[in-house]
Amino acid sequence: MRCRRSVRLDPSQIENRRGWGEMRGLPGGLGARSVEVILENQAASGAYAASPTFPQYRDYCWFRDGAFIAEAMSRMGQTESAERFFDWCAEIVRRAPGGPWNARYALDGSTDPVAWWPHRQFDGLGLWVWAMENHIRRHRVASRWSDAAEATQLFLAEHWSEPCHDWWEERSGVHAATLGCIWAALPRDDIASSAREARERERLDGSHAFLVVLGLAGIDVLAQLERTLGYHRHLDDEYYGGGEWPVLAGLIGWARAVNSLDATPQRAWIESQADRDGALPEQTGELLRPSLYGTWVERWGPPASPLLWSHAMYLILDGLAAG
Ligand code: BGC
Repeated sequence: MRCRRSVRLDPSQIENRRGWGEMRGLPGGLGARSVEVILENQAASGAYAASPTFPQYRDYCWFRDGAFIAEAMSRMGQTESAERFFDWCAEIVRRAPGGPWNARYALDGSTDPVAWWPHRQFDGLGLWVWAMENHIRRHRVASRWSDAAEATQLFLAEHWSEPCHDWWEERSGVHAATLGCIWAALPRDDIASSAREARERERLDGSHAFLVVLGLAGIDVLAQLERTLGYHRHLDDEYYGGGEWPVLAGLIGWARAVNSLDATPQRAWIESQADRDGALPEQTGELLRPSLYGTWVERWGPPASPLLWSHAMYLILDGLAAG
């Protein structure tokens, strides 16, 4: 059974919550719930808790997850929420302006006390700057983050070609999606061509859909992802038996939309994975290795739900699919 959170809601929200069963699948329903889930789980510092109920994630905010969440909130007109996240990022960068920075920090911005192997991840550094620059262009606001963005870009300009952990925190190397995220903040030709080369060289991975979104890979790659992986991360996935990720359905839909293809099937699939409270999990659906699922549940409990990154991808896709 999935974990449920008890939150204090005002009467109008209780009305919405009761109506959720009927709202499900209707335009706007899961979108409104997604904004609510994200706002409920944004700390005073601006950090977004990756998943409020999952013990391994609830005390942390990742640059990667957070940047996609802020991108979604900015698109939804939730400007204050997005800006508070950029404040959180900028604060962390300013504390050590020369870097390096970790992949995730505690919600109050302090350094993770847990010795955790995949702290070196550069994609999230590029992504926060990308989301912040998108936000400034979209809403024409003055930047209060330029100094921190420049410090991040300087670090990336120096270290972009070095190995770090991938999006899934499993392997160290020079990864295509990571290079794409760096390029999004530092659009240099050498970084773009390295991202393309890395993509050709490495194992097919769901994160490649973001390269299609960025225009660093074409619809041939998108077709290959849809045919071979669907919404799975990669064919070797063992985490919770290797389920299907709403985040990846969102990315595939986004990649389809930027290529003028219909993204409504991806949106409908994500909607069908929401529970009765409108919570979207980290992973769900068909497992690549069903025999491994129980081992993870024994270790850490059921898969994370709600996962704020899943809600963010739904919001982005919902906005695109609605045209
Ligand atoms: C995923 C990361 C993600 C983190 C928090 C991990 O299991 O591999 O990509 O940033 O969870 O959501």
